[in-house]
Amino acid sequence: RTLFTVLALESSADDTCAAVVTSSRQILSNIVVKQHDLHEGFGGIHPTVAIEAHQRNMPGAVRRALEDAKLMMQDVDGIAFTRGPGIGGCLSVGSNAAKSLAAALNKPLVGVHHMQAHALTPLLTAPVDQTPEFPFLTLLISGGHTLLLLATSKTSFEILATTADESVGRSFDKVARMLGLSWGTKGPGAALEDFCRKDTGDVPNVGSFPVPMPGKLAFSYSCLHSSIERYLASTQVPLTEGHRVALARAFQDAAAQQLCEKLTLGLEKLSLRNINPRHVVVSGGVASNLFLRTRLRAALDNYSPNVKIGLVFPPPELCTDNAVMIGWAAMHRFLAGDHDDYSIDLRAKWDI
Ligand code: KG4
Ligand code: ZN
Repeated sequence: RTLFTVLALESSADDTCAAVVTSSRQILSNIVVKQHDLHEGFGGIHPTVAIEAHQRNMPGAVRRALEDAKLMMQDVDGIAFTRGPGIGGCLSVGSNAAKSLAAALNKPLVGVHHMQAHALTPLLTAPVDQTPEFPFLTLLISGGHTLLLLATSKTSFEILATTADESVGRSFDKVARMLGLSWGTKGPGAALEDFCRKDTGDVPNVGSFPVPMPGKLAFSYSCLHSSIERYLASTQVPLTEGHRVALARAFQDAAAQQLCEKLTLGLEKLSLRNINPRHVVVSGGVASNLFLRTRLRAALDNYSPNVKIGLVFPPPELCTDNAVMIGWAAMHRFLAGDHDDYSIDLRAKWDI
């Protein structure tokens, strides 16, 4: 089979991404233009600001993706883009660029589901002997997602759990802010993880924070950050550093415990349906938390002491939003000659 080369564009949220991947699992380029600084003051993604930034940044991202791959546009065999879900106006920037390029060059076009692309990333990145086999579980934990997915094939996915309110990443961000941590270069979540490791000597007991909705396959993180907020509001004197470290640890512990419990519950429920996944893929910005990685490993070993369940983490740059995963998720369709029409619509809301 001859090599197939895909140029992919992604602009569903706040990162402008372009990449080139091939059917032989090569990543020829991976351009990600972040917008964090533009949105920090709004406390979340501001849609108009995001759309304008995508419009400014997408042409340059495409140019750089081709240059890094040392390719001319006509060397590309197909063009992929994120069809949804995401912010409509943001999606349209990548989609319009992809469609016009495809139409102008008479190349095939494929629109991709963003979440499916996250879930399929390990099929591209894992070493051949550790590549997850279907069915596998995907725990997608970032600022935008808190999802537990069952992947049964390249095209069929089932949502087992999602968040009833806010994402786990956002709760890390909010608690880091409440504790007055400076973001540093790595951002609020990583700052909180580092703060928990601080040795301050006197660490008072602040109790523990419970996992919400026990026995239910739904995440909830807003009540956890609210508990921390209430704790801070109810203590009169300014907290000592040791006290703040204790609170940060209690938060991180509860956040990790919730992910472990819901993951185990998901495995139990699947087992009742005779589905016993051998791999769990954990992806998204929060997956870089080392404390959490240890806790997830222990939870899986505890759940299945005899048959080891593999725990797979894609490399950090492919855990967060990127266009490599979009190109890769489109590959099986390109290879099967299954393309979309140039008039294909967007799906800002799209079930998996
Ligand atoms: O996937 P991601 O980079 O992008 C978006 O979702 O937009 O995830 C970012 C989230 C943020 O909420 C950030 O605070 C969190 O991931 N995060 C972490 C860590 N590193 C990033 N949370 C906990 N521990 C970390 N080490
Ligand atoms: Zn994403």
